[in-house]
Amino acid sequence: MIKKIIPILILCIFANSTANAEETRQYVKFPPKLQLKQLSNMRDHMAALNEILENLAFDELDEAADVAEKRLGLSARHSHSTGSLAKYMPKGMKQVGYNMHSAASHFAQVAKKGNLESAYEALMAVTQSCVECHAGYRTR
Ligand code: HEC
Repeated sequence: MIKKIIPILILCIFANSTANAEETRQYVKFPPKLQLKQLSNMRDHMAALNEILENLAFDELDEAADVAEKRLGLSARHSHSTGSLAKYMPKGMKQVGYNMHSAASHFAQVAKKGNLESAYEALMAVTQSCVECHAGYRTR
């Protein structure tokens, strides 16, 4: 009996994960050059996040704050041509983008105070915005 149930369970899990792969994200069209720029910003977001986690692991909260503010925070918006990208974004996407920048600046302020646990908690609001935007929008 159990030998029959296990493969069925495994099949159910597979069926469920392929159902999740169905495309439900809204398509956002950027001009090709800006699309490349946006993806390059994204890869830098990922790298910055990795550096922040590395800094936190070594208890270097000031360094983590610095990376967050410069590369993800409200001050990062100019260097990332966010202005020209924002013109093509639907309102909801723009809002999540703003939430991410402002969560990163908030994280920087919290991290500077030196409490690791509060810093991790504030970082969650940043990654939450990554997840939220990726779940809702695509550019290709
Ligand atoms: C406002 C929306 C938004 C936010 C916020 C956002 N992203 Fe993205 N990201 C996108 C979109 C749209 C794509 C393209 C996805 C697609 O077309 O399949 C993307 C793609 C990426 C890619 C793939 C890049 C490539 O070269 O293919 C990475 C990595 C990435 N994001 C990391 C992050 C990280 C890390 C964060 C948070 C710190 C983040 N993103 C926040 C919208 C966002």
